[in-house]
Amino acid sequence: MAAKGRCTSRCGARQGNSSTVIALAGTQLPDYRGGPMVDKVQKIWLDGEMVAWENAQVHILTHSLHYGLGAFEGIRAYKRANGKTSVFKLREHIDRLFDTCKLTLLVPRVTREEMMTACLETLRVNGMPEGYLRPMVFLGEGDMGIYAPNNPVRSTVIAWKWGAYLGDEALRSGIRCKISSFARHHINVSLAKGKIMGQYTNSVLAKREAKFGGYDEAILLDTNGFVSEGSGENIFIVKKGVLHTPDLSSSILEGITRDTVMTLARELGIEVREGRITRDQLWLADECFFTGTAAEITPVREVDNRPIGDGVVGPVTKKLQERFFDIVKGSDTTHREWLTEV
Ligand SMILES: Cc1ncc(COP(=O)(O)O)c(C=O)c1O
Repeated sequence: MAAKGRCTSRCGARQGNSSTVIALAGTQLPDYRGGPMVDKVQKIWLDGEMVAWENAQVHILTHSLHYGLGAFEGIRAYKRANGKTSVFKLREHIDRLFDTCKLTLLVPRVTREEMMTACLETLRVNGMPEGYLRPMVFLGEGDMGIYAPNNPVRSTVIAWKWGAYLGDEALRSGIRCKISSFARHHINVSLAKGKIMGQYTNSVLAKREAKFGGYDEAILLDTNGFVSEGSGENIFIVKKGVLHTPDLSSSILEGITRDTVMTLARELGIEVREGRITRDQLWLADECFFTGTAAEITPVREVDNRPIGDGVVGPVTKKLQERFFDIVKGSDTTHREWLTEV
C-alpha cells in the first residue's frame, strides 16, 4: 500500500496508468493521477532563453500557481499545401496576450516583437512543421501575499503537437454538448475579454461535468441565462441562413477564430448577426458550431439530447469549415495577411 500522499513505484502517475478509478458518490471517475503527457519537444523558451525541456522548471512558490493571475494564449501553426509552415494570426494572439496583461496589471519584461519572435523560434528550434504554441506571462516566486507587486513577471513559449482538439471525428461529424450547470462569470466578477489563467477553473468544471455526463463539451450560459460560449470555444448558430453569435458585450472571449469566421461568412454573402441567444433558440437552431484555436470549427450536432437541425453537419458549417481549412492548411492565398511564415 502506498503511503498516503506519496508516490511509489506502484503509483499511477509514475507509470502513466490511467486505469485506476476513483469512486465519488457512486460515479466512476477517471483517475487524475496518471495519463498521457503531450509529446516532449527539445526546447522551451523561458524568459528570453531556449532551455531544455527538462530544465523548464518554476519554483513551487510561483505566485500564478497559487492565485491564478497570469495571461496565456493558444496559437496554431499549420503546414500548408506549399509545404511551408505558417502561424495563424500571430500578431492578433500576441496583442490579446498583452491586452490580458493590461487587464490584469501585469507588465511583461518582453516586447510584443520579442514574444512573436520567440513563437517562431520555438517552432524552428524544435523542427516542428505544425503545432500548438502556448505563450504565457505569469508572476514568479517572491512575496506570497495576494498583492505581490514586486514578484518577477516571467514569460514563456511552449510548443507541442496537437491534432484536432475534440478529435478528427468531431470535425467531420460534430459533437454532443450539454448546457452546463456552471454559468460563465458575470462581467463584474471576472474579465471575459482576458485569457486569464485562474478564470479557467470555470471552464474546467464545466468541461468535466459535461464529460462525466457522457457529452463531448459544455455550453455555458451567462448569469442572465443567455448563451455565452463553450469551455474553450465561441459558439455560433445558423437559423434560416443567418449566422448568429453572442455579441462582445456578453461574457465571452473575443475569439480570434470567431472574428475569422465572421469575415469568411460575410465574404460568402452570409448575413452575420451578433446578439443575445437564448437556450431555446439554440435548441431550435438549424446548425450550430464552435470556433477556437484548439477546436478550429467543430460542428455541434446535439445539445441536451436534442438534435440540432437534422443532427448532421449543416451546409453553412461545412462551407465555413472548408474555407477556413483551405486558408490555414490548403493553397488559398486570399488572406495571406493572417499567416506568418516560420
Ligand atoms: C473561453 C474561450 N472562448 C473562446 C475561445 C476561442 O478563442 P480563439 O478563437 O481566439 O482561440 C477560447 C480559446 O482561446 C476560449 O478559451
